[in-house]
Amino acid sequence: MVIMMDEKKLVIEMRNIVKTFPGVTALNNMTIDLYEGEIHCLVGENGAGKSTLVKVLSGAYTPDSGEIYVDGKKYYGMNSLLSRDLGISIIYQENLLVPSMNVVENVFVGFELSNKGFVDKKKMKGYVKKQCDELGIQLNLDKTIASLSVAEQQYVKILKALITKPRILIMDEPTSMFNVEDAGRVLRIVKNIAQKGVSIIYISHFLKEVAQIADRITVIRDGVHVRTYDNSNNDVDLDSVVCDMVGRPVDMFYKKEEHPIGDVVFEVENLQISRDAPPVNLSVRKGEILGIAGMVGSGRTEIANAIVGASRKHSGVVRFHGRAINVNSPRDSISHGIAYITEDRQKLGLMLSGSVTENLTIVGLDKKFKGFFINVKSSVRKVIDIINKLQIKMANPMQEVQNLSGGNQQKVVLGKWLFTDCDLFIFDEPTRGIDVNAKAEFYKIMSELTKLGKSIIMISSDMPELISMSDRIAVVRKGRVERILEKEEISENSIIRYALEVVKNGENKHVS
Ligand SMILES: Nc1ncnc2c1ncn2[C@@H]1O[C@H](COP(=O)(O)OP(=O)(O)OP(=O)(O)O)[C@@H](O)[C@H]1O
Ligand SMILES: [Mg+2]
Repeated sequence: MVIMMDEKKLVIEMRNIVKTFPGVTALNNMTIDLYEGEIHCLVGENGAGKSTLVKVLSGAYTPDSGEIYVDGKKYYGMNSLLSRDLGISIIYQENLLVPSMNVVENVFVGFELSNKGFVDKKKMKGYVKKQCDELGIQLNLDKTIASLSVAEQQYVKILKALITKPRILIMDEPTSMFNVEDAGRVLRIVKNIAQKGVSIIYISHFLKEVAQIADRITVIRDGVHVRTYDNSNNDVDLDSVVCDMVGRPVDMFYKKEEHPIGDVVFEVENLQISRDAPPVNLSVRKGEILGIAGMVGSGRTEIANAIVGASRKHSGVVRFHGRAINVNSPRDSISHGIAYITEDRQKLGLMLSGSVTENLTIVGLDKKFKGFFINVKSSVRKVIDIINKLQIKMANPMQEVQNLSGGNQQKVVLGKWLFTDCDLFIFDEPTRGIDVNAKAEFYKIMSELTKLGKSIIMISSDMPELISMSDRIAVVRKGRVERILEKEEISENSIIRYALEVVKNGENKHVS
């Protein structure tokens, strides 16, 4: 039976919520409500207050003032126990899993099933297995979290949040780690859960995804409720949403500026990740952006890891500025002038207890210490320049990075690498978790870097970004470079055709 919106039961109302941190008003009289079984998406720029709002609802933060109504009953604040008892469960943006424990142990932390006083591992595993089957999740349940990919870890977070059988599920950027395909699966899971009557608050920067699954969409800007859109017919005007988010229209499709491209500066010759792996050949010219496209598990990240020495390679030569270089660790690659910005940025890219300034300058200084004095004045100027360009939102440059919003932490990681004097930048999914406006700014910076003669390799699953920014695109499939598309050949269609091997020997094959 389809229930009309006006007949729907209101389960949550948050009214006039105020939450301040030293120097920041994160929520300023914010208001939002949630109906039974609806998917209510929350969108806004990095630092707008989305995560803070849901943390007030989950009891992680106590609001300064405001009211929360659950099933009509008034509360002035939550705590984690109370919110759990009321049926609220949350998947945080941060990864709070225990790396050394396996999947089942992580899902059940604090809720272990026991049999005669002993933890019943078999029963727990059976339960998780059943959940996985029901939701269409494929996971090796015995693996430790540390050995799972970021996408797999995200599934564990979802399973963990469902363990309390919540009535209200909050998901803070659940697909930011996923490729399009996997994200699609998560969306189906989310819809599935909502159809069972669970109410969902869903935070995402992927606006197309939001338009696809939301019943309603609320825009939050600077901690204030801007507008709530009805999307029950999936017909929301995304330009209008973006305009509400940013406060002005934003051109979402920035294009790399045209400028002359120089000779080849970087070459990968017959690189094999393992003995049986296909040899990879790539080259990048001065001032060029080489895009790398491919489906989930196509081996793009593995190739990048082998290039920068983050993982071992079996054979092959890497040449930079005409000389073969020996790169056995990411540290080596930095000393050669190659920056690698990994997919798993929060774990590998930040000193969380350090300040924004410290994080922005650390790699740059590391390199410059070799034989040079640091020019403090120019460093400060550069830090301020990067903070302004990427619009890193914070109380002040000495603020600890761990207190920044998720997207602003990502910007610091990007900024830190832009601060270095590297000649080649390898970016793996650089704009994930970053809002539309900051994305456009980041594209401008990429464009500026190439104008200065720097080169870029960009792995991305964001098709529009890949197409508008790349000079050439290498399409990777099963660890092999299937094809290098020249500028005039680049299109979504051609990328997909090679990524799925629809084209072979000039013939068109159909994918079944
Ligand atoms: N624990 C904290 N201490 C100090 N400031 C904080 C803390 N948590 C959040 N803030 C600040 O509150 C503001 C809102 O942050 P919040 O994390 O809610 O943003 P967000 O909308 O989730 O952004 P993103 O899209 O980047 O995840 C930011 O200015 C942030 O720096
Ligand atoms: Mg957030």
